[in-house]
Amino acid sequence: MLTIGAKYMDAIEALKTRSSAVKIGEPGPPDDVIATALEAGARAPDHGMLRPWKFIVVRGPALDRLGDAFARALEIREPGTSAAELERAKQKIFRAPVNIIVAATVEPDHPKIAEIEQVVSAGAAAQYITLSLHAQGFGCRWRTGVAAYDATVKAALGLKVHDHIVGFLYVGTALSVTPEHTRADHRGFTEVWNSEAGGEQS
Ligand SMILES: Cc1cc2nc3c(=O)[nH]c(=O)nc-3n(C[C@H](O)[C@H](O)[C@H](O)COP(=O)(O)O)c2cc1C
Repeated sequence: MLTIGAKYMDAIEALKTRSSAVKIGEPGPPDDVIATALEAGARAPDHGMLRPWKFIVVRGPALDRLGDAFARALEIREPGTSAAELERAKQKIFRAPVNIIVAATVEPDHPKIAEIEQVVSAGAAAQYITLSLHAQGFGCRWRTGVAAYDATVKAALGLKVHDHIVGFLYVGTALSVTPEHTRADHRGFTEVWNSEAGGEQS
Protein backbone atom coordinates (compact mmCIF):
# COMPACT_ATOMS: atom_id res chain seq x y z
CA MET A 1 0.00 0.00 0.00
CA LEU A 2 1.39 3.40 -0.97
CA THR A 3 1.74 5.86 1.89
CA ILE A 4 -0.79 8.65 1.42
CA GLY A 5 0.81 11.68 -0.18
CA ALA A 6 3.89 9.75 -1.29
CA LYS A 7 4.42 9.09 -4.98
CA TYR A 8 6.74 6.14 -4.46
CA MET A 9 7.15 3.58 -1.75
CA ASP A 10 10.41 3.44 0.21
CA ALA A 11 12.74 0.85 -1.39
CA ILE A 12 12.95 -1.44 1.65
CA GLU A 13 9.22 -1.27 2.17
CA ALA A 14 8.73 -2.16 -1.49
CA LEU A 15 11.13 -5.10 -1.23
CA LYS A 16 9.51 -6.39 1.93
CA THR A 17 5.94 -6.08 0.72
CA ARG A 18 6.11 -7.14 -2.94
CA SER A 19 3.76 -9.97 -3.78
CA SER A 20 2.67 -11.33 -7.10
CA ALA A 21 -0.81 -10.43 -8.14
CA VAL A 22 -3.08 -13.44 -8.36
CA LYS A 23 -6.02 -11.65 -9.96
CA ILE A 24 -5.30 -8.61 -12.08
CA GLY A 25 -7.76 -6.05 -13.42
CA GLU A 26 -8.15 -2.61 -14.91
CA PRO A 27 -6.77 -0.06 -14.89
CA GLY A 28 -3.37 -0.84 -16.28
CA PRO A 29 -0.52 1.50 -15.41
CA PRO A 30 -0.27 4.77 -17.32
CA ASP A 31 2.66 5.42 -19.64
CA ASP A 32 4.74 7.31 -17.06
CA VAL A 33 4.51 4.44 -14.58
CA ILE A 34 5.58 1.97 -17.26
CA ALA A 35 8.44 4.25 -18.31
CA THR A 36 9.69 4.43 -14.72
CA ALA A 37 9.50 0.65 -14.45
CA LEU A 38 11.46 0.17 -17.67
CA GLU A 39 14.03 2.72 -16.52
CA ALA A 40 14.47 0.60 -13.39
CA GLY A 41 14.78 -2.52 -15.55
CA ALA A 42 17.60 -0.93 -17.50
CA ARG A 43 19.54 -0.54 -14.21
CA ALA A 44 19.89 -4.31 -13.88
CA PRO A 45 23.39 -5.65 -13.21
CA ASP A 46 24.94 -6.50 -16.56
CA HIS A 47 28.34 -8.21 -16.80
CA GLY A 48 30.25 -6.70 -19.71
CA MET A 49 27.56 -4.08 -20.36
CA LEU A 50 26.14 -6.27 -23.08
CA ARG A 51 22.59 -4.97 -22.55
CA PRO A 52 21.26 -8.45 -23.25
CA TRP A 53 17.67 -7.28 -22.85
CA LYS A 54 14.58 -6.58 -24.83
CA PHE A 55 11.44 -5.19 -23.22
CA ILE A 56 8.23 -5.34 -25.24
CA VAL A 57 5.16 -3.57 -23.87
CA VAL A 58 1.94 -4.98 -25.26
CA ARG A 59 -1.36 -3.34 -24.49
CA GLY A 60 -4.78 -2.58 -25.94
CA PRO A 61 -5.50 -4.07 -29.37
CA ALA A 62 -1.94 -5.40 -29.58
CA LEU A 63 -2.84 -8.00 -26.93
CA ASP A 64 -4.99 -9.59 -29.58
CA ARG A 65 -1.97 -10.03 -31.86
CA LEU A 66 0.03 -11.67 -29.11
CA GLY A 67 -2.91 -13.90 -28.22
CA ASP A 68 -3.09 -14.98 -31.87
CA ALA A 69 0.61 -15.88 -31.73
CA PHE A 70 -0.05 -18.04 -28.61
CA ALA A 71 -2.84 -19.87 -30.48
CA ARG A 72 -0.81 -20.26 -33.68
CA ALA A 73 2.11 -21.64 -31.70
CA LEU A 74 -0.13 -24.21 -30.01
CA GLU A 75 -1.57 -25.26 -33.36
CA ILE A 76 1.94 -25.86 -34.70
CA ARG A 77 3.07 -27.69 -31.56
CA GLU A 78 -0.06 -29.80 -31.43
CA PRO A 79 -1.75 -30.08 -34.83
CA GLY A 80 -5.42 -30.94 -34.53
CA THR A 81 -5.98 -28.93 -31.34
CA SER A 82 -9.65 -27.97 -31.17
CA ALA A 83 -10.80 -24.45 -31.94
CA ALA A 84 -11.97 -24.12 -28.32
CA GLU A 85 -8.49 -25.02 -27.00
CA LEU A 86 -6.84 -22.57 -29.39
CA GLU A 87 -9.21 -19.85 -28.22
CA ARG A 88 -8.36 -20.69 -24.60
CA ALA A 89 -4.66 -20.35 -25.40
CA LYS A 90 -5.32 -16.98 -27.01
CA GLN A 91 -7.39 -15.69 -24.12
CA LYS A 92 -4.56 -16.22 -21.63
CA ILE A 93 -2.97 -12.94 -22.64
CA PHE A 94 -6.09 -11.05 -21.57
CA ARG A 95 -5.55 -11.93 -17.90
CA ALA A 96 -4.11 -8.43 -17.44
CA PRO A 97 -4.48 -5.13 -19.30
CA VAL A 98 -0.76 -4.80 -20.01
CA ASN A 99 1.91 -7.38 -20.74
CA ILE A 100 5.60 -6.61 -20.56
CA ILE A 101 7.71 -9.27 -22.17
CA VAL A 102 11.28 -9.40 -20.92
CA ALA A 103 13.68 -11.30 -23.13
CA ALA A 104 17.36 -12.09 -22.86
CA THR A 105 18.84 -11.23 -26.24
CA VAL A 106 21.94 -13.27 -25.68
CA GLU A 107 25.28 -13.67 -27.36
CA PRO A 108 25.55 -17.44 -26.81
CA ASP A 109 29.22 -17.60 -27.83
CA HIS A 110 30.48 -14.50 -26.10
CA PRO A 111 34.16 -15.08 -25.27
CA LYS A 112 33.91 -13.78 -21.70
CA ILE A 113 30.32 -13.56 -20.50
CA ALA A 114 28.61 -16.91 -20.17
CA GLU A 115 25.10 -17.16 -21.56
CA ILE A 116 23.68 -17.91 -18.12
CA GLU A 117 24.98 -14.56 -16.87
CA GLN A 118 23.16 -12.78 -19.69
CA VAL A 119 19.94 -14.61 -18.87
CA VAL A 120 20.32 -13.87 -15.17
CA SER A 121 20.79 -10.20 -16.03
CA ALA A 122 17.50 -10.21 -17.96
CA GLY A 123 15.90 -11.93 -14.98
CA ALA A 124 17.16 -9.16 -12.73
CA ALA A 125 15.72 -6.60 -15.15
CA ALA A 126 12.36 -8.37 -15.02
CA GLN A 127 12.41 -8.26 -11.24
CA TYR A 128 13.35 -4.56 -11.17
CA ILE A 129 10.39 -3.87 -13.45
CA THR A 130 8.11 -5.93 -11.23
CA LEU A 131 9.30 -4.23 -8.08
CA SER A 132 9.09 -0.77 -9.58
CA LEU A 133 5.48 -1.41 -10.60
CA HIS A 134 4.70 -2.50 -7.06
CA ALA A 135 6.38 0.61 -5.61
CA GLN A 136 4.15 2.70 -7.86
CA GLY A 137 1.01 0.93 -6.73
CA PHE A 138 0.48 -1.61 -9.54
CA GLY A 139 0.33 -5.37 -9.50
CA CYS A 140 2.27 -7.83 -11.58
CA ARG A 141 2.57 -11.56 -12.13
CA TRP A 142 5.63 -13.05 -13.78
CA ARG A 143 4.67 -15.99 -15.97
CA THR A 144 6.40 -18.21 -18.48
CA GLY A 145 4.72 -21.44 -19.60
CA VAL A 146 5.29 -23.25 -22.89
CA ALA A 147 4.76 -20.06 -24.89
CA ALA A 148 7.99 -18.67 -23.45
CA TYR A 149 9.99 -21.46 -25.07
CA ASP A 150 8.15 -21.52 -28.37
CA ALA A 151 9.91 -20.48 -31.60
CA THR A 152 6.65 -19.21 -33.17
CA VAL A 153 6.03 -16.89 -30.22
CA LYS A 154 9.63 -15.69 -30.28
CA ALA A 155 9.37 -14.94 -34.01
CA ALA A 156 6.10 -13.04 -33.48
CA LEU A 157 7.94 -10.90 -30.94
CA GLY A 158 10.85 -10.29 -33.28
CA LEU A 159 13.20 -12.42 -31.21
CA LYS A 160 15.80 -14.87 -32.45
CA VAL A 161 15.42 -18.58 -31.75
CA HIS A 162 18.38 -18.53 -29.36
CA ASP A 163 16.98 -15.58 -27.37
CA HIS A 164 15.21 -16.42 -24.12
CA ILE A 165 11.86 -15.08 -23.00
CA VAL A 166 12.50 -14.83 -19.28
CA GLY A 167 9.00 -13.68 -18.51
CA PHE A 168 5.63 -12.42 -19.56
CA LEU A 169 4.87 -9.82 -16.89
CA TYR A 170 1.10 -9.55 -16.51
CA VAL A 171 0.52 -6.04 -15.23
CA GLY A 172 -2.45 -4.08 -13.97
CA THR A 173 -4.34 -3.40 -10.77
CA ALA A 174 -3.82 -6.15 -8.20
CA LEU A 175 -7.23 -7.48 -7.15
CA SER A 176 -5.67 -10.20 -5.00
CA VAL A 177 -2.11 -11.19 -4.14
CA THR A 178 -0.11 -14.14 -2.80
CA PRO A 179 -1.19 -14.88 0.79
CA GLU A 180 1.30 -13.53 3.33
CA HIS A 181 1.40 -16.77 5.35
CA THR A 182 3.15 -18.54 2.44
CA ARG A 183 6.29 -16.37 2.77
CA ALA A 184 9.55 -18.21 3.25
CA ASP A 185 11.75 -17.59 6.29
CA HIS A 186 15.23 -16.91 4.88
CA ARG A 187 16.83 -18.57 7.93
CA GLY A 188 15.68 -21.90 6.52
CA PHE A 189 18.20 -21.65 3.68
CA THR A 190 20.83 -19.21 4.94
CA GLU A 191 24.21 -19.91 6.53
CA VAL A 192 26.39 -17.23 8.07
CA TRP A 193 30.08 -18.09 8.09
CA ASN A 194 31.90 -16.16 10.82
CA SER A 195 34.74 -18.36 12.05
CA GLU A 196 37.77 -20.12 10.58
CA ALA A 197 36.76 -23.38 12.17
CA GLY A 198 33.45 -23.96 10.42
CA GLY A 199 30.45 -25.63 12.00
CA GLU A 200 28.19 -22.71 11.20
CA GLN A 201 24.59 -22.50 12.27
CA SER A 202 21.90 -21.25 9.99
C1 LIG B 1 10.96 -17.42 -14.19
C2 LIG B 1 9.63 -17.50 -13.52
C3 LIG B 1 8.55 -18.06 -14.20
C4 LIG B 1 7.30 -18.15 -13.60
N1 LIG B 1 6.26 -18.69 -14.30
C5 LIG B 1 5.03 -18.74 -13.74
C6 LIG B 1 3.92 -19.20 -14.48
O1 LIG B 1 4.03 -19.56 -15.65
N2 LIG B 1 2.72 -19.26 -13.86
C7 LIG B 1 2.57 -18.86 -12.54
O2 LIG B 1 1.45 -18.92 -12.02
N3 LIG B 1 3.62 -18.40 -11.83
C8 LIG B 1 4.84 -18.33 -12.39
N4 LIG B 1 5.90 -17.86 -11.67
C9 LIG B 1 5.74 -17.60 -10.22
C10 LIG B 1 4.99 -16.34 -9.88
O3 LIG B 1 5.44 -15.25 -10.68
C11 LIG B 1 5.18 -15.98 -8.41
O4 LIG B 1 6.51 -15.61 -8.15
C12 LIG B 1 4.81 -17.11 -7.48
O5 LIG B 1 3.46 -17.41 -7.66
C13 LIG B 1 5.06 -16.75 -6.00
O6 LIG B 1 4.40 -15.57 -5.66
P1 LIG B 1 5.22 -14.33 -5.09
O7 LIG B 1 5.96 -13.71 -6.23
O8 LIG B 1 4.19 -13.44 -4.48
O9 LIG B 1 6.17 -14.87 -4.06
C14 LIG B 1 7.13 -17.71 -12.26
C15 LIG B 1 8.22 -17.12 -11.59
C16 LIG B 1 9.44 -17.01 -12.21
C17 LIG B 1 10.59 -16.37 -11.47
